[in-house]
Amino acid sequence: MSAEFQSIEETRSGLAEAGYLADESIALVSFLAGRLGKPVLVEGPAGVGKTELAKALARATGRELVRLQCYEGLDEAKALYEWNYRKQLLRIQVEASDAGWQEVKDDIFGEEFLLPRPLLTAISAPEPVVLLIDEIDKTDQEFEAMLLEVLSDFQVSIPELGVVEAKTHPIVLLTSNDSRELTEALKRRCLYLWLGYPTVERELEIVRLHTPELSETVAHKLVEVMHMVRELDLKKPPSIAESIDWARALLLLGAEDVDEQTLKQTMSVIVKHRTDLDLVAERVGVKLNQAAVLAGPRSSEPRNAAG
Ligand SMILES: Nc1ncnc2c1ncn2[C@@H]1O[C@H](COP(=O)(O)OP(=O)(O)O)[C@@H](O)[C@H]1O
Ligand SMILES: [Mg+2]
Repeated sequence: MSAEFQSIEETRSGLAEAGYLADESIALVSFLAGRLGKPVLVEGPAGVGKTELAKALARATGRELVRLQCYEGLDEAKALYEWNYRKQLLRIQVEASDAGWQEVKDDIFGEEFLLPRPLLTAISAPEPVVLLIDEIDKTDQEFEAMLLEVLSDFQVSIPELGVVEAKTHPIVLLTSNDSRELTEALKRRCLYLWLGYPTVERELEIVRLHTPELSETVAHKLVEVMHMVRELDLKKPPSIAESIDWARALLLLGAEDVDEQTLKQTMSVIVKHRTDLDLVAERVGVKLNQAAVLAGPRSSEPRNAAG
């Protein structure tokens, strides 16, 4: 059962029902992707919701998600298709030695011996799917070229078998952590969506969605601290994923405020480099302490207010 979105607003609410809070640009590009049948290249730092967008689109449209996780050295055999050598070998052994080569060959290069990998699976699916090509920047340009061919023709040519043409048109999302520049050719073919860190308001909504039990005050403070932390010159700034983890941790610990003490205790949930930890403790910790002193003893116990 695959539904198509009729408007940007409908796309946004569909995604929200699927647990994904999209801003204007996300909703717009997702809507256009379905309508124009163009792949979307989603780029941005780790942990800002790139992969989740594809998953949510699949849930929202009732389509199956076919995922190709990219890595260094990924090749056609793992992305497109490969032959099931073991099965072919078995068949050769079973067939009587009097069978001619041509006969055997026709036999072992049939569909029965083909192992479809995500790209072929997505293209030959009887019902339209969402195809997620995750972390494309981890592959090389050669792979990109192969991908371009598949994405422009929507067909795969298998020398021994012939051309497999797409029966249905998938919604295609490619994600990139921006670790290398992708080719212009690929970008030209795609709609582009840059996902950065969200605004305070949106991040608060996302955190509330994932941890509805967390008090509004703590959630709010947490997100504000996150934004302070991101302003520092860190090796690896924390993402939405870390905000959610932190919210879950604070909930578990029963924290009633995000003060200097709480930050010190739980900092390793959000920053994961030695030097980053020091920097956050020093800069953000001090700010929280000052805020507590200014607010006076009612809103937060001033611990060692003298410094
Ligand atoms: N707009 C959003 N609405 C709901 N959850 C989100 C949103 N953006 C990010 N998240 C959550 O943040 C976490 C990280 O997202 P993910 O898609 O894995 O990041 P990326 O692929 O960009 O590294 C996931 O748990 C995801 O559910
Ligand atoms: Mg991801």
